[in-house]
Amino acid sequence: MVIVSPSLLAANFAILKDEVKRIDAAGADMLHLDIMDGHFVPNLTFGVPIVKDLRPLTNLPFDAHLMVKNPDMYLEPLAVAGVDIITVHVEAALHLHRTLQSIKERGLKAGVALNPATPLCFLEHIYSELDLILIMSVNPGFGGQQFIPESVAKIKTLRRHLKNMNMAPAIAVDGGINLETAPKVIAAGANIIVAGSAIFGAKDAKKMITALRG
Ligand code: DX5
Ligand code: ZN
Repeated sequence: MVIVSPSLLAANFAILKDEVKRIDAAGADMLHLDIMDGHFVPNLTFGVPIVKDLRPLTNLPFDAHLMVKNPDMYLEPLAVAGVDIITVHVEAALHLHRTLQSIKERGLKAGVALNPATPLCFLEHIYSELDLILIMSVNPGFGGQQFIPESVAKIKTLRRHLKNMNMAPAIAVDGGINLETAPKVIAAGANIIVAGSAIFGAKDAKKMITALRG
């Protein structure tokens, strides 16, 4: 079963409440929250107060994708705001193992994201701590970018590693996912599809979510 996680980054921020309700009604499985600090990536989005205000609007699990320079600073506030999964970038967390443990100590699921240029071997000693591995298929920072085709081979290799190790964290893929790229990443072994512009920009979000599942 493929999980579809719409990225709120592509929503209309002036009507965020309606957008969350619309995407929930359209059959989203979780909600992907892109938190950017203008340092790890050259863009700013939203932070903890907005996550907190969105929480009562839906029962969808909240997956916070932290594109920030100091992820540790936000773990406790995000836990209190009610997120379910926190995904940190391997490139940003200096003491990644400690960061993952501190996510899990708060009763949340822990994920790690890899930029397109970051090799899978960075995960070698932390696999057992991971609930989710997020393969970035664009360089993080902006929605609406073009899918990087090399991501497919990366997902395939990761799926094979996990099988060999008999481990089953989720493989998520984020960036440039649409009706053309989704089947490729799903065939390669991804089981969570993050999509922003493809879903929020669709005429019929429900149809798009169903179609992306394949
Ligand atoms: C990019 C974000 C993505 C983004 C994806 O840095 O992590 O979640 O919203 O947007 P699309 O699906 O439009 O590429
Ligand atoms: Zn994201």
